[in-house]
Amino acid sequence: MSPRFISLEGIDGAGKSSHLAFIRQWLATQQIDTVFTREPGGTALGEQLRALLLAPETEVALETETLLMFAARQEHVLRVIRPALAAGRWVVSDRFTDASFAYQGGGRGLGTERIAQLEDWVQQGLQPDLTFLFDLPTAVAQDRMAASRQLDRFEREQQDFHQRVRQAYLTRAAQSPRFCVLDASRSLPAIQADLAARLALLLERP
Ligand code: TYD
Repeated sequence: MSPRFISLEGIDGAGKSSHLAFIRQWLATQQIDTVFTREPGGTALGEQLRALLLAPETEVALETETLLMFAARQEHVLRVIRPALAAGRWVVSDRFTDASFAYQGGGRGLGTERIAQLEDWVQQGLQPDLTFLFDLPTAVAQDRMAASRQLDRFEREQQDFHQRVRQAYLTRAAQSPRFCVLDASRSLPAIQADLAARLALLLERP
């Protein structure tokens, strides 16, 4: 069976971390050798860029923010994702390029053509086989985040920003069959049942 590349997406507060833990456990049970990684990040340089990009005190132009996301992604694709897939390992990435379309495109208003150009340049046709989009109303996500830790630069944005991010994700999901959109406002067991079913399908497909 050829290795699979899975990405996880959603607005801040969608519960990605809990779902990632379940996916990790499910793949381990199936004894699938998997690399778990994240964006921005996943490499030494990428993690440094992540720290800069998420720090609330960072002042950065939208174009620069986008280029830094893709600089981190270039390293990630070259050094982590492609080598893992070439070695027959699965890859699960906590966010990938859909986040650039949603946050820099939808949230901040950068034109999608520009992002698509960077996508072509960096990915050379590489795309996830499956993308889980954890979708929920921004108000619910906001409530979940309020109780949590220190908020990063993106999490501090107003609700209308997150609303645009959510809409951009949904628009993108409607354009490609690689997306599996899950209602993340439901209970954890309900979402996990859907995750397990979709992963099983991916495992079966030749
Ligand atoms: P996130 O994945 O939510 O990590 P944590 O669960 O630790 O908070 O944080 C990454 C943030 O970076 C998130 O708010 C979305 C943002 N982001 C972009 O704006 N563009 C991108 O291309 C990527 C990959 C992430």
